[in-house]
Amino acid sequence: MDTFGNCSQALQALRAQTLAWVTPLSSAALGAQPHPEFSPIGWHLGHIGHIEARWWLNDAATLAEFAVDATVKSQRWRLPPMAALLAAVTKVRERATSHPIAPRLAWWLLQHEAQHLETMAIVQQLQTPDVLLPLPKVAPRSATIAATTVTVGSDAVWAQDNERPARAIALADSRLHGPITKQEFGEFMAAGGYQRAEWWSPLGWRWQQQAQVHQPLYWEALSPEQPVCGVSFYEAEAFCRFAGKQLPTEWEWEAAWQQGAIAPAGIWEWTSSTFDPPPAFAPFPYVGYSNAYFDDRHRVLRGYSWATPFPCQRPSFRNWYLPHIRQIFAGFRCAEW
Ligand code: AVJ
Ligand code: FE
Repeated sequence: MDTFGNCSQALQALRAQTLAWVTPLSSAALGAQPHPEFSPIGWHLGHIGHIEARWWLNDAATLAEFAVDATVKSQRWRLPPMAALLAAVTKVRERATSHPIAPRLAWWLLQHEAQHLETMAIVQQLQTPDVLLPLPKVAPRSATIAATTVTVGSDAVWAQDNERPARAIALADSRLHGPITKQEFGEFMAAGGYQRAEWWSPLGWRWQQQAQVHQPLYWEALSPEQPVCGVSFYEAEAFCRFAGKQLPTEWEWEAAWQQGAIAPAGIWEWTSSTFDPPPAFAPFPYVGYSNAYFDDRHRVLRGYSWATPFPCQRPSFRNWYLPHIRQIFAGFRCAEW
């Protein structure tokens, strides 16, 4: 047990990033909820402070109104004034820095804040659709993975419960193409991709008929040679079927990154994998952090986006969302065997 769990510099650096990002925002921007699936930016800030108090200080009372089960999403715009909120979150950190914390918990808290910071960036993007994203660069076009046994997952102190343990798995030969660019996705659109059920899974087509989308969410902000961004899992899946390919599994993605065959290109990438527990899964720090999403519906995303803070930029890190979510900074590659 050590005071900062060996990640004090990382915690300080990330908090500086959070505060630099949040401080210039107006109260209106902090309380706005541009999409019902995402809480206002100010709520995420309070939630970061609450979770830190709860787990570092064993104090569930501080900022208790920012516990996940304290308020329904539609009521989370009710916030204390900005200055009071910032002061309360900063106070938690001041109390915490002299309090011992187990290293694994410190690394978990760091990544908890990092993930909420990315979600704040998503909410900000939804509020200002005309402001251009810091767009990703053009990515490498294709990569080959030779059949081999690879180690996936991690036992590192910063590994999340859903990444543990490191374990060997067998992979077949495969080829990854992409990330799929705006121009390539445009071919699917021109072929009637959003109108033709044949390329969609039954669930995907049902979603498409309800949602009635006809282009990726961030389409207008992209240039042709940039990776497509703002697609749901269903749209990614339909494109792959159109192209005669499939989404890669999360293990192919992880192995290809580990081997240097591919690199993240500024967007999360959908995989075909459902978010499943590793063998001998042990929840940390609470039952529900990952367990609540092992439901055969959430899909895994790999890589990281331009908005992902450094602690979550790792080959074994697993992100997960429901298949209809397209507000996140996500694109995809296609796989062939
Ligand atoms: C894995 C990014 C979807 O933000 O809901 C944050 C991570 N879990 N607090 C989310 C998470 C609890 C999660 N995502
Ligand atoms: Fe959280």
